[in-house]
Amino acid sequence: MVERKSLGVGILGAGFIGQFHVRSWQGVRDGDIVAVCSRTLKNAESLAREAVESGVGEDVAAYDDVVALVQDPRVDAIWVLTPNFTRIDVIKAITDEVISGRAQLKAIAIEKPLGRTVDEARQVLEMVEAAGLLHGYLENQVYSPGLVRAREIVWARGAASAGTPYLARAAEEHSGPHNTWFWNGATEGGGVLNDMMCHSVEAGRFLLTPPGEKSSAWLKPVAVTATIASLKWGRKKYAEQLQDTYPGVVDYTKTPSEDYAHAVFEFVNGDGEPVVVEATTSWSYVGAGLRLSFELLGPEYSMESDTLSTESKLFLSRSLEQAEGEDMIEKQNAEQGLMPLLSDESVSYGYTGENAALCTMFLHGEQPLESLESGLEVVELLMAAYKSAETGETVRWPLDLNDFVPAVAQGTWNPRA
Ligand SMILES: NC(=O)c1ccc[n+]([C@@H]2O[C@H](COP(=O)([O-])OP(=O)(O)OC[C@H]3O[C@@H](n4cnc5c(N)ncnc54)[C@H](O)[C@@H]3O)[C@@H](O)[C@H]2O)c1
Repeated sequence: MVERKSLGVGILGAGFIGQFHVRSWQGVRDGDIVAVCSRTLKNAESLAREAVESGVGEDVAAYDDVVALVQDPRVDAIWVLTPNFTRIDVIKAITDEVISGRAQLKAIAIEKPLGRTVDEARQVLEMVEAAGLLHGYLENQVYSPGLVRAREIVWARGAASAGTPYLARAAEEHSGPHNTWFWNGATEGGGVLNDMMCHSVEAGRFLLTPPGEKSSAWLKPVAVTATIASLKWGRKKYAEQLQDTYPGVVDYTKTPSEDYAHAVFEFVNGDGEPVVVEATTSWSYVGAGLRLSFELLGPEYSMESDTLSTESKLFLSRSLEQAEGEDMIEKQNAEQGLMPLLSDESVSYGYTGENAALCTMFLHGEQPLESLESGLEVVELLMAAYKSAETGETVRWPLDLNDFVPAVAQGTWNPRA
């Protein structure tokens, strides 16, 4: 019998997204979770136990020290799922071990955003390249089956005869993130533009690019025009609510992070045609839960997708007393009335496809198209959008944003002053 090989994956960061990744692993064939590391051993042990109980790993080790994780001989690849402000420290710790020969690692996958600034993202990419690792940028939406399949058909049936698509619209909205560090501009790197437009702009680039091509080879950025605003959380009542829910959060009546962002990214595509990604993101959307929507428009065709238009919906009457939960949908806001039900969020949002694809490629020594270079390009597009929002002007390429830090991240943005 042929022995089946499997990539040994070490999870770094046992928070919200760590749990999502572990849940998604049920659909991954070429990799097993062999270790979990987090800031506290208790959290690492709890997620390691979850991995064992759900059958996606055996004897999963738990660590609270990243060096111990990298040096574990069963770990072939690390998934970096720690907060944005830890990127440089954790990537340095990992790559130092590899470069010094104290650890054998094949690959690394890093959550969005790659850095809080272009400079940070560039440093991350350079450290990983210096360590000679295969790398993946964890942008789940470009693996979401709804987008992948629609894109294949649009390009095969529409673009092949009528010409390339010209407009991608993408929006990601929910009612606000789940931990203090997201809300503080300095630790997060900005507000919702940084946190969620990274998804929308990359989904837009993905849809406008022919399958199998690298989006940066097909789309050359030309200009971006953006707006940011503090619509909800800068209001006194909601700023106070934030203080109560997240001790240590900044005062949103004085130095908020943006909870709304809109940007129009202009590119020239491989045919020399102008094309546009229109992205909207907000932390001020109160609906059933997380809403991701996408459209792709071309000369004789269009596609659309909306994660809240679920195939299953359920109704719970007012006489039922309900406990709060996120069992129907991520960032759920209600437990009564007519509710959408996403049967498998890990699949729908793309985590399962992402982890399956990365494990297979890493196991076979292949470099994924969605790489840390893509992550750096996304950060540059986002920083250009912040610059446009701050100056009120369209920002044009070529540009050097290496030293640019958004005013929101510096704590100097006060739209209510
Ligand atoms: N792809 C997506 O849709 C998506 C969704 C949510 C979060 N994210 C990204 O994932 C990352 C983590 O977000 P989250 O929501 O899980 O945050 P979180 O605050 O819920 O969890 C972070 C975890 O990392 C641990 N941690 C912090 N510093 C650490 C360190 N130095 N070493 C080891 N562990 C450390 C914390 O203890 C915690 O368990 C962020 O970069 C975020 O932007 C991506």
